[in-house]
Amino acid sequence: MSDGRLASPGAEAGEDDLDRSLRPRTLDAFVGQDSVRAQLGIFLEAARQRGEALDHVLLAGPPGLGKTSLAVILAAEMGVEITVTSGPVIERKGDLAAILTALGPRDVLFIDEIHRLNRAVEEVLYPAMEDFQLDVVLGQGPSARTLRLDLPRFTLVGATTRSGLLTTPLRDRFGVVQRLDYYGPGDLATIVRRSARVLDVDLDEAGAAAIAARSRGTPRIANRLLKRVRDVAQVRGQAVVGRDVAEDALALLEVDALGLDDLDRKILRRLAETFEGRPIGLGTLADAVGESPDTIEDVYEPYLLQAGLLARTPRGRVATPRAYRHLGLAAPRRSPEQGALFGAEEDPVT
Ligand SMILES: Nc1ncnc2c1ncn2[C@@H]1O[C@H](COP(=O)(O)OP(=O)(O)OP(=O)(O)O)[C@@H](O)[C@H]1O
Ligand SMILES: [Mg+2]
Repeated sequence: MSDGRLASPGAEAGEDDLDRSLRPRTLDAFVGQDSVRAQLGIFLEAARQRGEALDHVLLAGPPGLGKTSLAVILAAEMGVEITVTSGPVIERKGDLAAILTALGPRDVLFIDEIHRLNRAVEEVLYPAMEDFQLDVVLGQGPSARTLRLDLPRFTLVGATTRSGLLTTPLRDRFGVVQRLDYYGPGDLATIVRRSARVLDVDLDEAGAAAIAARSRGTPRIANRLLKRVRDVAQVRGQAVVGRDVAEDALALLEVDALGLDDLDRKILRRLAETFEGRPIGLGTLADAVGESPDTIEDVYEPYLLQAGLLARTPRGRVATPRAYRHLGLAAPRRSPEQGALFGAEEDPVT
């Protein structure tokens, strides 16, 4: 089965083939995110019973948690076609008009990175989402006329890593808004075991747990690590992937016990060392580690926050006691922000 039409060439050019091959195809095969799955299951069933299009769905959350997978699943469960595109690719109103007029009844239009749509294009989307109508301007100058076209009832599925950047009028037009969260180790272990079966890798339970523990709560990372672990096992001539091979491979990849990669550690180290534990702003931090502020905020920070390694204070970001311990660093001189974080009497670093 294909992932459907690509409305814009290159829309998925950067996408890993691995993602595609390991993508779950049904809601039942989608692991974890129980409340998202339960709610979408009911909305799907109701729409199917009525023979109507599913309401517009917004999926928000950090990269690699399954937004694209869910969009593909929604179309498959509805038994309709999916057209895949992304916010930055739709440059002009005409591009969007062309995509919309090609949709069939109840089809899914998936717009990835929907927060990056430009305003002019976004305004075409409002009447399309709300009234299933498209205004087309014919001709130029004084003789220009506006033609109103009826569109089939379709489902817009939008994905965003930054729901905070969505304009209110756009967000309000989604009937269903779901947030995806980082996965727990149990769900991740289930996901890598399933992926191992697809890739024909004999992965035992301890091996799966070792990979799951170091995947930053992210299925895409779990799958990527699995492939590298498979390489190590193969070169060593080990038929079954157990904890030892998995841990050796992860050490080789410089993925540490908390699943942090090089940049994660760089961020924490900069917070802890360079600035002597003083809170620092996003821009300064980004400069210090040589990444864009967007990448830090979308990709790195959410996990560090939820893992309790980084905290946001009114005056900026700080490393937490857990981060100091993880890096094996001595406690900083305490700023007022850290006083609160580190606790008054407890010695933060052991
Ligand atoms: N719940 C899940 N169950 C099983 N596999 C999953 C699940 N979620 C994600 N995956 C796996 O992780 C990979 C990445 O998922 P997906 O491409 O859907 O993420 P995404 O949220 O769209 O990421 P991005 O924001 O980077 O586009 C998929 O190919 C799939 O193999
Ligand atoms: Mg995606």
